[in-house]
Amino acid sequence: MRMYDIIEKKRDGKNLSSEEISFFVNGYTKGDIPDYQVSALLMAIFFQDMTEAERAELTASMVESGDQIDLSAISGIKVDKHSTGGVGDTTTLILAPLVASLGVPVAKMSGRGLGHTGGTIDKLEAVPGFHVEISTDEFVDLVNENKVAVVGQTGNLTPADKKLYSLRDVTATVNSIPLIASSIMSKKIASGSDAIVLDIKTGAGAFMKELDEAKELAQAMVSIGNRVGRNTMAVISDMSQPLGNAIGNALEVKEAIETLQGDGPDDLTELCLELGSQMVVLANKAATLDEARERLSDNLNNGKALDQFKRFLESQGGDSRVADDPDILPQATYTFELPAKKSGTVSEIIADNIGTAAMMLGAGRATKESEIDLGVGIVLNKKIGDHINEGESLLTIHANTKAVDNVKEKLYESITITDRTVEAPPLTYDNITE
Ligand code: URA
Ligand code: CA
Repeated sequence: MRMYDIIEKKRDGKNLSSEEISFFVNGYTKGDIPDYQVSALLMAIFFQDMTEAERAELTASMVESGDQIDLSAISGIKVDKHSTGGVGDTTTLILAPLVASLGVPVAKMSGRGLGHTGGTIDKLEAVPGFHVEISTDEFVDLVNENKVAVVGQTGNLTPADKKLYSLRDVTATVNSIPLIASSIMSKKIASGSDAIVLDIKTGAGAFMKELDEAKELAQAMVSIGNRVGRNTMAVISDMSQPLGNAIGNALEVKEAIETLQGDGPDDLTELCLELGSQMVVLANKAATLDEARERLSDNLNNGKALDQFKRFLESQGGDSRVADDPDILPQATYTFELPAKKSGTVSEIIADNIGTAAMMLGAGRATKESEIDLGVGIVLNKKIGDHINEGESLLTIHANTKAVDNVKEKLYESITITDRTVEAPPLTYDNITE
């Protein structure tokens, strides 16, 4: 088999066989095929697309390029959840203990990553003592015992994706549905869960700004998951404005605790119930979505979800007193309000820019080496559709510096107040199951 022929075939719009796909993925991972040939193939895929069968083959080859986590020693159907991007997305912190409280095993492998705020692990490390440095054996034992554990990415997972992603980054081939879908799904599949609930964000703060694109990506990912034998569904959710009110690491942990106490922001609570019901049904722990939702909602209000969260923190060394007293979490030294310049209705809170403002305060990482400031961030006091009076606070800035004028300016540019009446955007748009 020759790489030249594979490039030519895809360039001419023909379908690649599974042998051809695994030939180039293996050859590239091993270093036998040079960057310039793979670059040409990626560009051909960018323009010619791939069939559903080709996308599934590409994903399977990337999964096979490295280690796969074996979760078979955990009893029950393991369900994973993945959100694409987003700003201030606290759902994982809530969903993991919440669905575990109904007996769904959650074996969560999570990252730190770059972005507006830290990843799930950074947020959890705001809890004093909490750590994710546990072996795979301990991880499996913890999930069997407590139904929920979170571990950092271990081992040599999907090396093919790492190489391909870096190459895409410098060859203008990141933004391709088959390549994005196979990249994300290969990592989910290698980390071992039986079923996957995807939360595909759309709107100004999302990777996929347009609803059509978000649906196309969701369909591509659901098709890949189901073709490789993992029961997969996707919810398309709104990310035009940030989800919930808090954007920042410790601030989001506090918001997660409030939600687990049944006292969280409406949008965040509702999305967690929606995604959580899907997870519970895929895990066969409820017969219908309505039954799942009712039981999840009960556990938010009767303390069971919060108890599960406490057990989870303790089992990984964390100080579970935070669940009753969130003031133990790291806190910023200063707070500043952002007063509305006029009265009216909030019509726009551009999620992306709010995320950037949080990053300017130090809540996120610009490079792999940057340190995160766990205490800083932003708490929205108003959301789209809310009325506000001139001088009333739109949001509160939590900072470790008094020099926040540039952050305030960025925030003012991101929020619009109008005289019209404005409806809050829908929370979800569609569910994709095949
Ligand atoms: N995130 C990924 O992991 N891969 C992509 O291709 C895009 C976003
Ligand atoms: Ca939030």
